[in-house]
Amino acid sequence: MTAVQLTPVLTKRFGTDQPWKIDNYERLDGYAGLRKALTIAPDDLIAMVKDSNLRGRGGAGFPTGMKWQFIPQAKEGEEPQPHYVVVNADEGEPGTCRDLPLMMNDPHSMIEGIIIACFAVRAAHAFIYIRGEAVHAIRRVTAAVLEARAKGYLGTDILGSGFDCEITVHAGAGAYICGEETALLDSLEGRRGQPRLKPPFPATNGLYDAPTVVNNVGTLASVPYIVLGGAAWFKQLGPDGSPGTSIYSLSGRVKNPGQYEAPMGSTLAELIELAGGMSRGKDIKFWTPGGSSTPLLTREHLDVPLDFDATVKAGTMNGTSAIMIFDEDDCVVRATLKWSEFYRHESCGKCTPCREGTYWYVGIYERLENGEGTEEDIATLLDLSDNILGRSFCALGDGAVSPVTSSIKFLRDEYLAHVEHGCPFRAAGDRVLAGAH
Ligand SMILES: Cc1cc2nc3c(=O)[nH]c(=O)nc-3n(C[C@H](O)[C@H](O)[C@H](O)COP(=O)(O)O)c2cc1C
Ligand code: SF4
Repeated sequence: MTAVQLTPVLTKRFGTDQPWKIDNYERLDGYAGLRKALTIAPDDLIAMVKDSNLRGRGGAGFPTGMKWQFIPQAKEGEEPQPHYVVVNADEGEPGTCRDLPLMMNDPHSMIEGIIIACFAVRAAHAFIYIRGEAVHAIRRVTAAVLEARAKGYLGTDILGSGFDCEITVHAGAGAYICGEETALLDSLEGRRGQPRLKPPFPATNGLYDAPTVVNNVGTLASVPYIVLGGAAWFKQLGPDGSPGTSIYSLSGRVKNPGQYEAPMGSTLAELIELAGGMSRGKDIKFWTPGGSSTPLLTREHLDVPLDFDATVKAGTMNGTSAIMIFDEDDCVVRATLKWSEFYRHESCGKCTPCREGTYWYVGIYERLENGEGTEEDIATLLDLSDNILGRSFCALGDGAVSPVTSSIKFLRDEYLAHVEHGCPFRAAGDRVLAGAH
């Protein structure tokens, strides 16, 4: 009997009759949170979200209410300046699959959260930046925005409140770096997506240099539930420091890969049970707690609560709750080669440690996989990592380091076996081709 139960909050409408249609959404409490929010003073709304301790679901876990509070507001008698809300729907972190299912199944919960956020921070315009390849999600969200406008939830004088709000859906071009919030803003402004120097932060100098809130899809979709259920209800759903639920996406060697919404702080042992157990009857060897940019864990860590604080104590991060699971017959060197190829390809090239370091990672991993590696290569991987971590312009560089250093830390023997005999998991003569993706 598993200790954790599925706890559908964000996924509560999944599987109901066409939940993406506004009439069906309204039948299941849809837009009730907005109606309530419009009766609350914007500053009190911000205080409510702050009190709920909702933390951003985009990866870093920054407190959402605090982010909203940072938006400077006009003082009595001052002319209000434009503010923006920007939704990060780029979802590029390897293994992550929860924003797309949310937007496909229940786009209105995100849209409702966006309108509430705009009302709270006094923004009249929001932009949803969706990964360009996700044409299906772009169509679905665009249709939902049109439905919301036709019903008076967007446009002028929303529900007679005097509040005006518009949403623009914007398709990105499919670059992982455009999920980094400042690169996203540059891309949205029509420039090449590369990270900006921080400070200044988007809260003061964001889109078109105006104060801007950048939030993830899941963060904003949580807001209507908090407004309706109250901060106290939300807080009892998970641990003190990381309340609420998370949509854990499990992929790899489990019987039933997919999205499992459960309270924050669930453990991998519990989640694997929810997913029907391991798929090949083998033991787990290594796994990512929140995408490939979070340091790998092993079977020693099955009972680590997967929330923002406990994962840090365990030497990793909660990230996007994208759990990729590998068993005894999977090769950690090959998996890390694949991730390194991804980072090399997605590095925007702005700074040397990340641009050059990810290139050298791939060359070394190819050698190791082909049985041409040396022990010195392992030392070089660690040396390169020292030169990337904390020395790159944005967190993509740090993310590239995570699988490398954590896999060497926990599974060094497997690296040494590659040096001695080549990859133990591959057929004789099977080679990685240099430069192949
Ligand atoms: C390389 C890189 C890619 C990122 N990709 C995403 C993404 O696809 N979606 C997302 O919400 N956040 C992504 N982030 C995090 C954002 O920069 C930002 O922290 C987040 O959108 C803030 O929203 P939140 O406070 O609601 O979590 C990425 C960060 C980096 C460094
Ligand atoms: S760390 Fe990588 S992605 Fe980030 S700015 Fe530097 S080169 Fe670009």
